[in-house]
Amino acid sequence: MEHMEGLCVTDCERCPALVESRSRIVNGVGPDDADLLFLGEAPGAKEDEGGEPFVGRSGSVLDDALRDAGLARPDVRITNCVRCRPPENRDPTSEELSNCRGYLARELELVEPELIVTLGKVPSQNLLDRSVAITSESGSVVDVRLGERSHRVLLSVHPAATLYDRSQREGFFETIARAADLSGLADSSNGQASLGDF
Ligand code: URA
Repeated sequence: MEHMEGLCVTDCERCPALVESRSRIVNGVGPDDADLLFLGEAPGAKEDEGGEPFVGRSGSVLDDALRDAGLARPDVRITNCVRCRPPENRDPTSEELSNCRGYLARELELVEPELIVTLGKVPSQNLLDRSVAITSESGSVVDVRLGERSHRVLLSVHPAATLYDRSQREGFFETIARAADLSGLADSSNGQASLGDF
């Protein structure tokens, strides 16, 4: 059984293990015409509880980096490759990623963001369809053809990486500031992005 209304999946039972482990389907949040879209891996415990992507510790890091770049969460769209929480927070399997891929493709087609930022190895590999060494490739921009359209993608480490390894924080914050620039949002954010220059 599966059903998508606009950008929201309302019903889906394609992945038996995830149907078992989830308490709800966690859809993307943010404007349906956002210029900047962040793509994570899959909901964790907090997201499963709250029904919103990136509301746990990783979400706080992302919020801090957005604020630093002069942006706020409601300015951007945030979604995941897989919309249901995997058991014990394991990585989604390639089958689960492919089961959920059509929903993501539809979301990207409808939102048509200027820039997609992949948060971590799993979403980077999923979108680019190749293996990615995220620590060394973080910060690179690539064009990815999806269906009829080419999308500009900025690769980033996952915000959780900054919690395991404090030395990754600066690089992550720089990548998010770059995302604000590349998506054109830095100019429309009341000049806050440039206040730090003074
Ligand atoms: N990590 C992710 O990749 N996605 C979330 O929504 C939360 C944590």
